[in-house]
Amino acid sequence: MINERIRSEMLLSKLTTAEVAARFIKDGDTVATSGFTPSGYPKAVPLALAERAKAGEKVEITLITGASVGPELDGILAEVGVIKRRFPYQTDARMRNAINDGEIKYADMHLSHVPQYMDYGFFGDIDVAIIEAIAINADGGIVPSTSVGVSPQAVKNAKKVIIEINTSQSMDLEGIHDIYMTQKPPFREPIPITKSGDRIGTTYIPCDPDKIVAIVETNITDKVRPLGAIDEDSKMISKHIIKFLENEVTAGRLPENLLPLQSGVGSVANAVLGGLVDSNFTNLTCYTEVIQDSMFDLIDAGKVTVASGTSFTPSEEGLKRLNDNMAHYAKYCVLRPMEISNNPEVARRLGVISINTAIEIDMYGHVNSTNIMGSRMMNGLGGSGDYTRNAYISIFTTVSTAKDGDISSIVPMASHVDHTEHDVQIVVTEQGLADLRGLSPKERARVIIENCAHPDYREMLVDYLDRAEQTKFKHESQLMDEALSWHARFLATGSMKK
Ligand code: COA
Repeated sequence: MINERIRSEMLLSKLTTAEVAARFIKDGDTVATSGFTPSGYPKAVPLALAERAKAGEKVEITLITGASVGPELDGILAEVGVIKRRFPYQTDARMRNAINDGEIKYADMHLSHVPQYMDYGFFGDIDVAIIEAIAINADGGIVPSTSVGVSPQAVKNAKKVIIEINTSQSMDLEGIHDIYMTQKPPFREPIPITKSGDRIGTTYIPCDPDKIVAIVETNITDKVRPLGAIDEDSKMISKHIIKFLENEVTAGRLPENLLPLQSGVGSVANAVLGGLVDSNFTNLTCYTEVIQDSMFDLIDAGKVTVASGTSFTPSEEGLKRLNDNMAHYAKYCVLRPMEISNNPEVARRLGVISINTAIEIDMYGHVNSTNIMGSRMMNGLGGSGDYTRNAYISIFTTVSTAKDGDISSIVPMASHVDHTEHDVQIVVTEQGLADLRGLSPKERARVIIENCAHPDYREMLVDYLDRAEQTKFKHESQLMDEALSWHARFLATGSMKK
């Protein structure tokens, strides 16, 4: 019943069609939406906006979301030329192509920066916010759906708010959210979170009901992304990490139930976390961004006591499992604004163990998470930097080769750098683990090559490093005319091998 979800007569009177709601969006507007990974993003209003463009109307917008969103928003609007500028993260193939073809101006940002950019006015005016919700309280308070992302700041800063009430989203989500917003400096105060599960805010996003210009009812489901099967490489990576963590406990550097885990996006990250199901660790906690399928396995195995994130990011099977058992998983999960889930202050205080996936890593420890061959944008750096720099221990994983062995993921010089050598402590591939803590660049290079490079490329890397170290500068030696020749060779011949 829609009356149970829209909880006042005044708000019920704003119920309208997606077509009418989309009319509030004007050419040149900056539109901020809910959505983080393809979860909890608006669907009906963007589809109606696309219809206007298809009918020949010029309507071009800047789109700001929490992170990636589904095809009804990023995909179709990129295809029909509505999006001209995009922040801060995306995974849709049509959006990615438009960015790489130069049709959409994209700025890849640390996710923790996005809410404060909005509050500080760095994005300019926010004309319209479109928020997916499961309910609206009589006072205008918006109960989000499967993600929170940047929605609180979007609602706070937007001139007009459009709400999509999605009846396909479980009402058992109510109560899972913890909405807390910071003040701008010089009035900002410490965020009072000292444990992953602390609740410090409200279960809804406060909103002046007068700002709500339209409410649309929809039942379009989240178009979640498939997760790759857990392969042997991922299992090996997971094993190396678990052994490393066990050693850290033995050495007295980590408590027996570790510290809050943060795990990145994608198939490898999901597999790495999944490996903990069979480990001896118990009473684990997570302070992370995305809650993927393997988290449900860990909860069901009694391994995880609390998982804090900003979105559920399940596969299709995971989404069904979540929806069928929402009340059960809600007991273990907290969904926070990304300003809080990704907050450097909180990550540093809690001492998160960050585990993120890289595209490539160079022999000195610089990490490329985003640009294939230095110039083809994949997704974006997401929250990896928010956690990595502030982690108790920062870990990066990658399979040692890509494209059937024609690419080495360990290279002399990264073709793009998202995370510098100063932030990266542990590098793991299926081949092994390199502990870089306390090592000089020369030492790091030997350990990464020895432990992490694929045997097919190890000799080439040693040869490169030996020759680089013959040059005048011995601290972090590179052969500048050769450092990126591996990438150039792949582009020219289809393989990095000589
Ligand atoms: N060189 C070129 N291409 C490479 C590569 C390399 N060294 N390593 C991987 N790739 C390609 C793969 O071949 C694959 O290509 P395809 O899409 O054409 O098949 C693609 O990159 C993705 O690789 P995959 O192994 O499927 O990785 P994944 O699903 O685990 O995702 C990232 C890996 C890096 C793309 C993903 O983790 C990401 O976007 N990270 C940045 C954001 C982030 O870290 N967020 C974490 C905070 S929650």
